[in-house]
Amino acid sequence: MQDLDVIKKTREFVKKELYLSEPGHDFWHAERVFRLSKLIYEKEMMGDFTVIALASLLHDISDSKFCGDDSFGSEKAGSFLLSLGVSNDIVFHVRNIIENISFHNGKSDFFSDEFFIVQDADRLDALGAIGIARAFSYGGFKGTEMYNPKIKPRFDMTKEEYRKHKGTTINHFYEKLLLLKDMMNTNTGYEIAQARHRFMLGFLNEFYSEFEGLK
Ligand code: ADP
Ligand code: NI
Repeated sequence: MQDLDVIKKTREFVKKELYLSEPGHDFWHAERVFRLSKLIYEKEMMGDFTVIALASLLHDISDSKFCGDDSFGSEKAGSFLLSLGVSNDIVFHVRNIIENISFHNGKSDFFSDEFFIVQDADRLDALGAIGIARAFSYGGFKGTEMYNPKIKPRFDMTKEEYRKHKGTTINHFYEKLLLLKDMMNTNTGYEIAQARHRFMLGFLNEFYSEFEGLK
C-alpha cells in the first residue's frame, strides 16, 4: 500500500476509535496535531513524513488518563499498522513516539527528529485559543471549578497527584500550559509557542479583570 493510502486509512481508523471521546481529545485533536506536525516538518525539513503523520494521528487513541495504561494505545496502533502491511521499523518507531510523548512521562530516553516534531505539535495544541478551549472543555468534563481565588496552583506534583488533584482550570494554566513554551524541541515549535503563549497571557488578564468586576 502507498504511504498516502496508509495515512488515509489511519485517519479513518482514528476517527472511528475516537468517536464520542472527550472534546479536547477527539479526532480533531489528532487532526490538529497532524497539521501542526506537517507545518513544523515543512519548515524544519527533518524526519520521515510517514512516521510523523502516523504518529501524530495515532498518538492519543487510548489516552492513559482515561485508560490507565500507557502501552495500550501503542499496542493497538501497532496492530493496526501491521494489518496494513506497514514495515516493522516504522511500526516500532511510531510506537516509541506514542509511548514517550506525554508531558508526565519522565522516563523518556527515546529521541528522534520525528518524535521532536510530533511532541512539539501535541504541546502546541494545548496552547493559544485552542489550548484555552481544550482546558475549559476538560475542566467541564471533570467537573472542576473554572476559577477559585482561594485555591492556589501547585507545582512539583507526582504523576498520580497531578491526575487526582482537585485544582481549577485557571490553575492548570500555571501548573502546565504556561510552562510549555520553554519545552519546545524545534525552533519552529518555539516560535509558534511564543505567539500562543502571549495570547493566553492576554486571556488571563482579561479573565481576572472581568472576574473582579473591573470592566
Ligand atoms: P495530551 O494527551 O494531548 O498529551 P494532556 O493529556 O496533558 O495532553 O492534556 C490534554 C488537554 O487537556 C490539554 O489541552 C490540557 O490543557 C487539558 N487538561 C489536562 N489536564 C487538565 C486539567 N487538570 N485542567 C484543565 N485542562 C486539563
Ligand atoms: Ni495529544
